[in-house]
Amino acid sequence: MRFGRFDDAAREYVIETPRTPHPWINYLGAESFFSLVSNTAGGYSFYRDARLRRLTRYRYNDVPQDANGRYLYIREWKDGVPVGPAWNPGWKPTKTELDSYECRHGLGRTTLRGEKNALRATVRMLVPLGETAEVQELVLENRSSAAKTVKIHSFVEFCLYNALDDFTNFQRNLNTGQVEIEGAGIYHVTEYRERRDHFAWFWTDAAIAGFDSDRETFIGRDGDYACPLAVEKGASGNSVADGWSPVASHRIEWTLAPGEKKRAVFVLGYTENAAARKWEKPGVANKEKARAVQARFADPAGFDAAWKALEAFWTDKLSRFSVQTGDEKLDRMANIWNQYQCVVTYNLARSASFFESGIGRGIGFRDTCQDMLGFVHLMPEKARERLFDVASTQFPDGGAYHQFQPLTKRGNADIGGNFNDDPLWLVMGVAGYLKETGDWAFLTESVPFDNDPKNAATLFEHLKRSFNHVTDNMGPHGLPLIGRADWNDCLNLNCFSTDPNDSFQTSGNKDGRNAESVLIAQMFVYAAPDYVEICKRMGDGAEAERASKAAADMEKAILKSGWDGEWFLRAWDDRGGKVGSKDCPDGKIFIETQGFGAMARVGAAEGYPLKALDAAAKHLDTPHGAVILDPPYQEYHLELGEVSSYPPGYKENGGIFCHNNPWLMIGEARNGRPDRAFAYWKKIAPAYREEISELHRMEPYVYAQMIAGKGSARHGEAKNSWLTGTAAWNFVALSQWIVGVRPEFDGLRVEPRLPSHVKKATLRRVYRGAEYLIEVDNRNNTGEVRLSADGAAVDGCVLPAAPAGSSVRVKAVVG
Ligand code: BGC
Ligand code: NOJ
Repeated sequence: MRFGRFDDAAREYVIETPRTPHPWINYLGAESFFSLVSNTAGGYSFYRDARLRRLTRYRYNDVPQDANGRYLYIREWKDGVPVGPAWNPGWKPTKTELDSYECRHGLGRTTLRGEKNALRATVRMLVPLGETAEVQELVLENRSSAAKTVKIHSFVEFCLYNALDDFTNFQRNLNTGQVEIEGAGIYHVTEYRERRDHFAWFWTDAAIAGFDSDRETFIGRDGDYACPLAVEKGASGNSVADGWSPVASHRIEWTLAPGEKKRAVFVLGYTENAAARKWEKPGVANKEKARAVQARFADPAGFDAAWKALEAFWTDKLSRFSVQTGDEKLDRMANIWNQYQCVVTYNLARSASFFESGIGRGIGFRDTCQDMLGFVHLMPEKARERLFDVASTQFPDGGAYHQFQPLTKRGNADIGGNFNDDPLWLVMGVAGYLKETGDWAFLTESVPFDNDPKNAATLFEHLKRSFNHVTDNMGPHGLPLIGRADWNDCLNLNCFSTDPNDSFQTSGNKDGRNAESVLIAQMFVYAAPDYVEICKRMGDGAEAERASKAAADMEKAILKSGWDGEWFLRAWDDRGGKVGSKDCPDGKIFIETQGFGAMARVGAAEGYPLKALDAAAKHLDTPHGAVILDPPYQEYHLELGEVSSYPPGYKENGGIFCHNNPWLMIGEARNGRPDRAFAYWKKIAPAYREEISELHRMEPYVYAQMIAGKGSARHGEAKNSWLTGTAAWNFVALSQWIVGVRPEFDGLRVEPRLPSHVKKATLRRVYRGAEYLIEVDNRNNTGEVRLSADGAAVDGCVLPAAPAGSSVRVKAVVG
């Protein structure tokens, strides 16, 4: 069952009912101001950091789940008496039944359209490029043959900036709220009188008949968001918040002739002032910058221009990779939604979604290095900046803070480091960046360790320390020590926690010198060829040689102590027990090492990659994707940690991690079985799951982190949509391995491994400023590719980087 449809021409998903199984959301903003917006106008806004600069309030874990947003209440009045109930174009919070409803989530913008009694409200929302503001445009149309008088109340509720404090520190916060009112501008100047150099504001260009900024006056002591007192009375209190909870609401009264349309914009803005320009009069905040933003959007042309500029921005970005295969679901994922999710995930990391509260972790070290892989072709400059920031949180020994805050760029001391896979992701991230850009100068830039400018070294030196961090921390089987965990945050082999008050992520009472990760070993083998190449090009032959040897030794160690007979082991625990072995009662086989092992082609001579993939297919595959492990742990295992704490079939205990299903896909494509690669992808790709939305329940346009596994009661139900490394890895699998266009250090490899039902494909890839227009003729799908560029046969499958600005016509025949 579907709840909407794709409109590919508009690059939108059109939701046709407000009663989706879960709030289906979108993100506004691509630079520094971000808003989450659900299909019923719920969600919140923040500037840069969802925790420290939260502008509007949201209620988590509340019923209904999607509580609080930017709302417009509309009500018709006649002769001083309301005609019917108040309603919202997005249905919530009044939930008044609408005559028609539609929500269009597009790229960085959302349109809600609700109609009631021949009044049609269309609300377009976006964060314009270059602005620190969310702008909504309301167009209200009278579609009846009689004049109508309406009262419109706008509404947002401010958050007192620090989102965690806002929800915990009431003894202070119920006293600090302050506003200034100037015309139709309501300025949330809480704490501006002391240390803040910023304020948020809500403004409309419409002539207002009244306003409110005190929550209780607007809502009423016994009112609620569904039925605020001011809306009920059709009046405003003109209240000026003084402590308690500042909100912003305007009241607009319009009479619309038959067929008439009226328009208003509402701007939620964020303004920062330099210390010297903080005040315009003693005690009056300087609103100069805010007024300039307002002037831009008071003009309807200003809004339209911003709307179009955003569209052009996305057209430009997405034109760097696009493909036409004739499979519309494949094309819409590849050309629109997967790339869009890669950008959002890159920007927001794991901070703010309807599953990530925005008050927890900032940017994860490994997360952002992986996100980069699906993003770098779109905005290489931003990728460079982030890689610099990430590398700056590395410790001198090559280890790293596991997370850092986007606002301060400092490592989070409360979570610390010792996730021993982290350093290798930096090597892979930087290699991905270099392959895309050819920006070798980056490696010679000076980057601090632990943000200490006095202790800095070249980025190349950071990579060396990363790579060597693995070999400096080896365990009894000659495999890398796992530390707190590797990619699987929940495989906590040094934790041994019996106290429910412990956090699995940060507790540990073992010395960490025993438990080893086969995954880190495989990642090492996988990353080594790129690292070796980087060393050679940096003129460090000795390091290249040392690294090659280390990789060969590592492979030997995996063959000796990381192979279980039919598949790769997952790890060795602190007591010297196997993890992910046929000898284990539960958790006999894990996906990570089958995928990465096949990607890295560990034990190729012994046929291990295919054996591992076959084992994954046999034990892990389900109709909804491959589970992370099987069978799920039925009991809590002290020696394994959080992985065994989840009920069977959920999250790391046997859920379907859409993040590492692509490792199987890449393994399959790389080992010559493209149809199997595609079959895996289809099971988890949201556009293919759209038909089962009542089961899947999350947005059908973006991947979810997890789909409940076969061991759970809700097999097939997704959770944690939007912010997940799933976006990047699926895009890598899809674009680089299935479509088969893969940047390398010296050029673009074109090696399509499309599914057999795609016989012809055309694609466009912009690479280092040159355009490649590629036609694929997929004859027998053998994997033997013959390439020609501008009519001339090419030797091998790598097209050399063409001069920026040039265009190359390529034909690829897959024999
Ligand atoms: C989740 C993981 C996540 C980790 C770190 C765990 O509870 O299951 O997926 O990586 O927390 O936040
Ligand atoms: C989500 C985390 O963001 C990611 O870093 C981790 O690898 C997976 N969970 C698996 O635990």
